[in-house]
Amino acid sequence: MTVEIDLTLNGEERTFEAERSDSLLDVLRKNGYTGAKRGCDTGNCGFCTVTVDGESTMSCIEPVATIDGATVETIESLGSQDDLHPVQSAFVDNAALQCGFCIPGMIMRSRDFLEENPDPDREEIRAALSDNLCRCTGYEKILDAVEDAAERMDGDTAVAADGGQPVDDVSCSGCGCGVNDE
Ligand code: FES
Ligand code: FES
Repeated sequence: MTVEIDLTLNGEERTFEAERSDSLLDVLRKNGYTGAKRGCDTGNCGFCTVTVDGESTMSCIEPVATIDGATVETIESLGSQDDLHPVQSAFVDNAALQCGFCIPGMIMRSRDFLEENPDPDREEIRAALSDNLCRCTGYEKILDAVEDAAERMDGDTAVAADGGQPVDDVSCSGCGCGVNDE
């Protein structure tokens, strides 16, 4: 059965048709918002993390029936290739991504966490990201990146000061992290 859901998606009022059995991730990906990745599809990997009404949310287990009227932000709402969000810049500059599949979810959860806790210690960052898995990096560089992002978001001074690594120098396989997107 088809239903209509209204969302404020990345700042725009949108109406989507969806199957009653769809998840928020289904709705996003069917409508071109492919930054959120489908990993386990059971709420166990965090690859599909987006922000719903200000909270990091695993979109694969969020039924459409519960999100009508919600405000949703996806990785597509963060920086552009020429103007990365400080969390995206920090991930790039700390080499915190390899295959990139987990990165959109990591970045959304990191952004939401740093907005709540702008000056975390490493153990707080580790705990905040504990629901988001990564099969490639061993996590240490991700923790480095989030520590760095906290400093950059604290007035954005670090980004302005070092200019970051040129985006053209960074390879990315089109994972949706916002780096080198066409
Ligand atoms: S795809 Fe949603 S938690 Fe794994
Ligand atoms: S960079 Fe490959 S899964 Fe995290």
